[in-house]
Parts: sequence; C-alpha cells; structure tokens
Amino acid sequence: MQLSRNEGSTMHQSTLSVPATGGGVKGTVAVPGDKSVSHRALILAALAPGRSTITGLSRGEDPTHTRGALAQFGVEFADEADGTVTVDGGLRHEAADVLDCGNAGTGIRLLAGVCAGVEGLSVLTGDEYLRQRPMGRVADPLRQMGARVEAREGGRLAPLVIHGGNLNGITYHSPTASAQVKSCLLLAGLAASGSTTVVEPAPTRRHTEEMLTAAGVRVDVDGAAVTVHPGPVAPMAHTVPGDPSQSAFWAVAAALAGCVEMPGLYLGYGRKGYLHVLRRMGAAVEMEESTGTVRVSAAGLRAVEITGNEVPGIVDEIPVLAVAAAGAKGTTVISGAEELRFKESDRVSSTVAMLRAFGVQAEERPDGMVIHGRPDGFTPAAVDSAGDHRIAMAAAVAAVARTSGTSTITGWGSVATSYPDFVADLRTASGVTATVSA
Ligand code: S3P
Repeated sequence: MQLSRNEGSTMHQSTLSVPATGGGVKGTVAVPGDKSVSHRALILAALAPGRSTITGLSRGEDPTHTRGALAQFGVEFADEADGTVTVDGGLRHEAADVLDCGNAGTGIRLLAGVCAGVEGLSVLTGDEYLRQRPMGRVADPLRQMGARVEAREGGRLAPLVIHGGNLNGITYHSPTASAQVKSCLLLAGLAASGSTTVVEPAPTRRHTEEMLTAAGVRVDVDGAAVTVHPGPVAPMAHTVPGDPSQSAFWAVAAALAGCVEMPGLYLGYGRKGYLHVLRRMGAAVEMEESTGTVRVSAAGLRAVEITGNEVPGIVDEIPVLAVAAAGAKGTTVISGAEELRFKESDRVSSTVAMLRAFGVQAEERPDGMVIHGRPDGFTPAAVDSAGDHRIAMAAAVAAVARTSGTSTITGWGSVATSYPDFVADLRTASGVTATVSA
C-alpha cells in the first residue's frame, strides 16, 4: 500500500487544468473518511491486542503511511472485499524499519507518542515538507516523560530517533493549541506509570479522547485539561465518518455559486467551525446533526472577522474560507492564525499567493491576512500548490466557483495525501472537465 518516494514526488508535480465558467457546484457529494479519525482508528486498532475492524477509512496517502508504519511493529492489516480493513493488533516487536510518515504531520506526531511507549528504537521520517515542520513541540514533552528523543537541528526536525519505554506520567502545559501534540502525549500516556495530563491554551478537536474512551480507556476532560489513565486499549469496530475539512471545499464552492448536500459527516467537537463562519458571511447552511448531513447554498457573501479564539476550530479550513472571503463583499481580516505558518506549507503565505494569482488583493500579516473581496469574479490563475493539498483544492474551488477561463494548479499531486478522488468529485459537482497532466 505504501507509495515509494519516487512515485510520490512524480505525482506531486502534476498539474490540474480547470476550464471553468464560474458556474459553481450542484448535487450530493460523498466526501471521504475523516483523516484525523482514520489515523487514530489505525493506531488504536494496532495497539489493541486482538481483532478490530475499520470501515470508511480514508484512502489518502497520509493514513496509508500510518498503516505502513504500524505494520513495521508486526501489526497485520487486511483489506476485505467490502472495503472494511481488518486489523490484528498488538505491537509484537520494536519497529523493523524506519517509519516513513510521508507528508503527514498527524501521522508522525501521533506515532511519536506510540513509539515513546514501546521499548526499543524507532526512527520516524517523512517527505521534504514534513522534515521542515516543527517536532520540538512533541519531542520536548516526550523527553519530560522519560523517552530519549534525538532529532536534527538541535532536536527539532525529523528524522526523529526515539528510544522508548519506562515512561512516567506528567502534567504538561502545552504552549500551542494543537490536537496533534495533545494526542501524542495521550498515546504515550497509555504506556506510562501514573496518569498524564495535557493542558491546552485553547481546546482543540477531541477525536483521541472520544476514541480512547470508546476503546475502554479512562480519559477525564475538564475544560482545556485532559487526563489519560494508563491501561489497555480494547479491540473494536471503528466507523470513520465523512471528513468535515474535505466537505469545506464543496461548502465554500456552493456558498459562492450553487448548492450542495453532504451526508455522513463528523459534526462533533472542534470540527464544524467553518459552517459557523460561512453562516456569518451570509451563506444558507443547514446542519442535521443526527445524520451528519450538511446542506449549503449560495447567497451574496459579506466579509467576516476571524480572531485567534476561533482558529483551532477552523485551522484546516482557512485556505478555502479565504476563497469565500475573496468572493465576498468587503474586507476580511484573519488574525491570531500564526499556527498556519507551520502546516503542510506556510499557509499564510501560500493562501495569499493563491488569492493574488486569481487577481484578488490580499496581504499577509505576521499572524494572519487581510483579503479585499472581489464579488464581481476572479481572473484565471496559474497557481502553485506549494506542495500543499489544501492550497491546491482551495484553488480548484476558486476556479469553478468564480472564474471564467482556464486556471492551472501545479503541484496538484499533493491532493492524493488526503483526497485522491477530488478531481472525480469536482467534475461531477461542477460539470467542468478538469484534467490532470504529468
Ligand atoms: C489534526 C490536528 C490539526 C490539523 C491537522 C489534523 C489532528 O493540527 O491541522 O490537519 O488530526 O489532530 P494541530 O493540532 O497541530 O493544529
């Protein structure tokens, strides 16, 4: 299942060409399985001694790398004909080889927590983008728990070398609101002596807490403090819901032009903030919590102000919300979003560059951006994805929802990390014959 480095980088260089007329999108889209939940389902199933099943798993390269990494510990995965993945869990030995996490920040940081709890040596690495992203945020607290963690550039960049085992529980006040950091420490805490508490500066998505609890682990949540009590993870049947972050691309396209319905989404804690932002901008948004169905249709959008307290709940959706702001009347200001600079690309820079390519006036700020809306439509663009799947998909939305003429997006292959079927869904929803060339 794992892609070789060469296949990966060749794909990542491809170009999407979008000959659009600004007609927007229409219909029902079945968005892929949630990426955050997929990583965690694979990890919890791997930790649980016995047989688990996972349905609805994301087929993106990111979770696929996590699956490949877990197989190095002797965990057995099998694909059933109906798409279910069967996992015979229980880490049987130290990792047999280097763990290649590809482009996945979630993969490497959560797996670092797992590795810290395993006696023996683990080496974690990833692609050229991941090897530039900050790892001190997990390495430092894991060292406090007793793991020996070495890394490049003074211990802050992957590859990470972890000598695990003999952990003690700690209370850690994280300087960053990051579900990846929190989850890393909760997973390490499963193997520690004593409980582990993570206190966040602002609460973040709660998938790890929810899924550990479902697997029989005691987790206490008290505001922004989460405590895990060490103990076994039970095997279980995981069902992965649709990914709200992927649905955001269609939601923004529809808010600008058209209407769309998306069933089966995760609408739990920390993931539906983008729908609140779109509502504030004037879009018609319906949420059916019991079925996870979201319906969005176009309206004349107006500018919005986004400040730091809202950012953890929309951290992955800001590039595409910026496209909505670009199509809205007025000036949108996004602040308190410095974390965007540490994502798959520096998303403050890459989002502003993408908007400017479409003829939209936008400026960077150290902690965010200012976007001057252009409700009359964008000009066809030549966009560079900066190796970032969300910049690439946000650009495709700008092209189909507000541009007449052909736009191109280079570095399109990065989309395979999270949404391999995006072009097929784009063609169906927009009627535009978008094509990918090498
Ligand atoms: C994720 C958490 C977020 C998000 C990422 C997935 C997760 O990162 O950007 O795409 O699955 O925990 P941070 O928590 O580091 O902000």
